[in-house]
Amino acid sequence: MNILITGATGFIASHTIVELQQNGHHIIGLDNLSNSSIDTIDKIAQITGVTPEFYSIDICDYNGLMSVLADKKIDCCIHFAGLKAVGESVSKPLEYYDNNIGGTITLLKVLREIGCLNIIFSSSATVYGTPAFVPITEDCPKGICTNPYGWTKSMIEQVLLDTHHANPDWNIVILRYFNPIGAHESGIIGERPNGIPNNLMPYITQVACGKREKLFVYGNDYDTPDGTGVRDYIHVVDLARGHVKALDAIRNNCGAEIFNLGTGNGYSVLDVIRTFESVNGINIPYEIVSRRPGDIASCYAEPSKAEKILGWRATHTLQDMCRDSWNYQSKNQD
Ligand code: NAD
Ligand code: UD1
Repeated sequence: MNILITGATGFIASHTIVELQQNGHHIIGLDNLSNSSIDTIDKIAQITGVTPEFYSIDICDYNGLMSVLADKKIDCCIHFAGLKAVGESVSKPLEYYDNNIGGTITLLKVLREIGCLNIIFSSSATVYGTPAFVPITEDCPKGICTNPYGWTKSMIEQVLLDTHHANPDWNIVILRYFNPIGAHESGIIGERPNGIPNNLMPYITQVACGKREKLFVYGNDYDTPDGTGVRDYIHVVDLARGHVKALDAIRNNCGAEIFNLGTGNGYSVLDVIRTFESVNGINIPYEIVSRRPGDIASCYAEPSKAEKILGWRATHTLQDMCRDSWNYQSKNQD
């Protein structure tokens, strides 16, 4: 299939392009390079032997998108492009709503114009807010998000569902990612956060390489087995493969469907630290500090819908994720 990938040079999209190319799909990638580098295209080619078609373009630019896409036959769009820094979204809400929601609406208009009514969207478990129950099924009611980033995901989901409602010819797959970590096993592509990492694994790998002195563990008084926050960490390559499977659903005219992409296992912050230490043989000094505002105690998926309908399940372990995250970091020390 000819697959349009927005946010193509980003962390999750780059791993997905590798899997798609290895499954024989042709890629047309777009990115405005606001949070990634053009080098990623060469790195993908290094892994797969195929250079994806790529355009440096903003999804908010209707005319620019039309000039690239008007004469192309696109079978499906996988829409990754978006701003994702939770803290920044609190201080720049208009920029986040404009880029993420405005950009998605522009993209949908272009897709409609060129006759591509198939889209897979990168959503997040953040739409569940403080989940009504765990493990979280797709039927769990959406919750109150604690930041504008989360609201953009929740609102875009609604835009997509309404678009399908107005014209059922649209096939829409919403993928709610849990906590993606890890990297391609080659160590060639991975996650490269700007500045001080907000998320746990990039912070741990920066402590491991000596760039940061110690990890701050945000709270040990949650109602969890060891008091630290519990999350469903998922290897980015498993996540990428979920998108390949979602294309089959699109091909079968699935209508509008929502899937959790998680492993179903919840691990605490201390579990992650201990696993990282034992797999990589590196000590991670840490200090328990107070809770981070907006954090929840426990968030993990009930992933059986994706297994039943898409034939997808995660296969990588937390050990694999810790090994591959460190392999990437140690090979890419700025
Ligand atoms: P990323 O920042 O690495 O990738 C996003 C890409 O989109 C970047 O390359 C950026 O340059 C590009 N982009 C942003 N705005 C754009 C615009 N207006 N036009 C064109 N390109 C634009 O992030 P990621 O971790 O790979 O996330 C991919 C998607 O998955 C995002 O939508 C993110 O919100 C979502 N998601 C990520 C996580 C996570 O933990 N990484 C969890 C849940 C959902
Ligand atoms: C965060 C975002 C969420 C986003 C998700 C994507 C917030 C409030 N939420 O979720 O919107 O969809 O990333 O992956 O930022 N932790 C520490 N020390 C650290 C960093 C994290 O103890 O330096 C703890 C956190 O308290 C949490 C766990 O590690 O219990 C995971 O944190 P993180 O990686 O930031 O992910 P989430 O909070 O789940």
